Amino acid sequence: MNNYKVDEWKIIEETFEPQRVKGSESIFSIGNGMMGQRANFEEDYSGEMLRGSYIAGVYYPDKTRVGWWKNGYPEYFAKVLNSANFIGIRVKVNGEPIDLSQNKVVSFSRILDMQHGLLQRSFVVELRNGGKIEIVAERFMSMARPEIAAISYSVCALDCDSIVAVEGYVDGDVVNEDSNYNEKFWDEVAKSATSRGGYLVMKTKKLDFNVCWNMSLEYSIDGAEMPAKAISIEREKYVSNSVEFNLKKNQTLTVNKYVAVTSTLNHPFENLVSKSDEILSKAALDSYAVLKNEHINKWLDKWQHADIVIEGDAEAQQGIRFNIFQLFQTYTGEDERLNIGPKGFTGEKYGGSTYWDTEAYCLPFYMSTAGEHVARQLLIYRYRQLDKAIENAAKLGFTDGAALFPMVTMNGEECHNEWEITFEEIHRNGAIAYAIKRYIDYTGDKGYLTEYGLEVLVGISRFWAQRITWSDERQKYVMLGVTGPNEYENNVNNNWYTNYLAVWTLKYTAEAISYVNNTDASTWAAIKGRISFKEDAELAKWADIVAKMHFPYNEKLGVIMQQDGFMDKEQILVKDLDPSQRPLNQKWSWDRILRSVFIKQADVLQGVYFFENDFDLETIRKNFDFYEQRTVHESSLSPCVHSILACKIGDMERAKTMYLRTARLDLDDYNKEVNEGLHITSMAGSWMSVVEGFGGLRIKNDTLYFNPFIPDNWKSLAFKVIFRGRTIKAKFEGGKTILTNESEQPLSVMVKDATICIPANSTIGV
Ligand code: BGC
Repeated sequence: MNNYKVDEWKIIEETFEPQRVKGSESIFSIGNGMMGQRANFEEDYSGEMLRGSYIAGVYYPDKTRVGWWKNGYPEYFAKVLNSANFIGIRVKVNGEPIDLSQNKVVSFSRILDMQHGLLQRSFVVELRNGGKIEIVAERFMSMARPEIAAISYSVCALDCDSIVAVEGYVDGDVVNEDSNYNEKFWDEVAKSATSRGGYLVMKTKKLDFNVCWNMSLEYSIDGAEMPAKAISIEREKYVSNSVEFNLKKNQTLTVNKYVAVTSTLNHPFENLVSKSDEILSKAALDSYAVLKNEHINKWLDKWQHADIVIEGDAEAQQGIRFNIFQLFQTYTGEDERLNIGPKGFTGEKYGGSTYWDTEAYCLPFYMSTAGEHVARQLLIYRYRQLDKAIENAAKLGFTDGAALFPMVTMNGEECHNEWEITFEEIHRNGAIAYAIKRYIDYTGDKGYLTEYGLEVLVGISRFWAQRITWSDERQKYVMLGVTGPNEYENNVNNNWYTNYLAVWTLKYTAEAISYVNNTDASTWAAIKGRISFKEDAELAKWADIVAKMHFPYNEKLGVIMQQDGFMDKEQILVKDLDPSQRPLNQKWSWDRILRSVFIKQADVLQGVYFFENDFDLETIRKNFDFYEQRTVHESSLSPCVHSILACKIGDMERAKTMYLRTARLDLDDYNKEVNEGLHITSMAGSWMSVVEGFGGLRIKNDTLYFNPFIPDNWKSLAFKVIFRGRTIKAKFEGGKTILTNESEQPLSVMVKDATICIPANSTIGV
């Protein structure tokens, strides 16, 4: 059963269920790329919840906590900090607190309006004296003014005259649910409460990020502004304003709360308060309605470029819009220092850090909907961390400029602290190299190699060249002790995906070197000198590895093997699992999971997806059938890849099932963990499964190519992509493909085998 009503543009919750509060706090999260928060209530709530409000880039290096220290472990685990609760509006009616956990709830409704970027809530509670109170609340984090959040909060006494007391506040006394030593990470720096607002400046421990939350409060009754006299309160890490009103029956008190959030990431410390004052007073002067309107316009503009329209299947439609909405709330591409945490601003798991998710999953979405410069920026983020990646590899014993990018990072340093992942899940390095190829194939920007890409590729290639071992026994190169994307296996030998990526990186880097050398020999000479590249020896070594790498394969089955010894496992299938045993990671011991055949996420199939041109259709089909039957998809990153491959082999049933699983993963809580936050990075995978799966979009020889495969129950599918300076809209309906070129230059595209030239500003149907 759906917890939320199916609607094409909205997520709607119609009842109040205390056991669902944490899950819904994740689902209804809002943000604007610069800050974001879980959908906590403005008024007090004494039931189980996770209060969470986060500011992009403001993190804390929490000392690593592990039982058994291993050389090479990182010193700290970076976490984007839970920060001040600035939405707070405490309400008491005739002395009784409004608290959904304590009051009798008569009705409740919550709406996430994705089209306009608004979180709305209304409810009626019955108080102890029998009086009913209606609350209507709306808030948003402004997309137009990223340092501003605004709330409109109304209280109406439905049955009788009442005394309503409201206290708008900023509370900086917060904790991280996941802190390693129960430490509080913020110290107070300054505060002041005035008659209509107040500010609080707090500083993070260790790294000294300073943040100012500055609030301004407006009160009105039935639309008439109230010159209320507030009592201002200051206590440790806290500022507030309290007012009391005598409300007549059916009168509505509205509190507008504006908050400006400024930080030393963007302003000098000495200007934090004055800057926030300036932004805040401008916002309040402009009014809630104006702020809301410009925020809505920003969202409409985003949808104008990035919407996906699925006619005929409201669940599928709602799912993809939810994913696109959350992706844009998390990362807008405007700040090159930022990246995309797996949970965005919706929870604390994964610490808000950068994972291989960005390169393997998020890049195509931002590249096609936000533009080439945003994709480039994501790549440059890693380029800037290359020195740290070289240091990181050196800590593990690698030499001569070998680079190992971290599994988890905030500033280039490794933060993950389980040896099976930190030291072994090295395939992430390959995804970073692969993203460079993907970017260049899509944009044609080969200059990226000369400017930035080549050095990253060489660093990664040098790592692979040292990470392999020559096996006398096999007379082949092997890669020992790794963890593939399937984290339900550790310390395996010859994970096919990792070996394949390594060999591919070596080949691609050699080609890239030759390209840069041929087009700009002096730059190559400069790079070569800078990185002390021993051209003949290193290239010869790479070529030898490419020629002699071992790839596990089962001749009898005609299937690639995920790693050596995979067939020794008991070969049972997912369909034979008792549903009560799932998700396995919540029901089975880790030991049992490791020995079982079950695969957490696409592994061999991740490689088949990346390198589909290397395999014929029959090989793809065989491998898909084999691995799909053994994959439990307990990583959110998995079903999208399976969905795309199912489209490729023409298996509509599984393509659709896997699509719904990726696009509605959180809405329908497939993996029973939505209360921890949303799976933001896999949402970009949902986008890929529509565009690359059902739309069949690829880049073939610098040309945009479509090979649609549309579910029968979808009346039509339409999406837009930005490709080489043009915006192309593709609509698939009733067997026809209708392409619109919304730009000033013509573009040739391919639909299956036909090449079509679409003139500027025109539409062509095939
Ligand atoms: C997955 C990783 C992923 C991480 C963050 C894990 O569960 O196995 O592949 O990078 O989540 O999304």
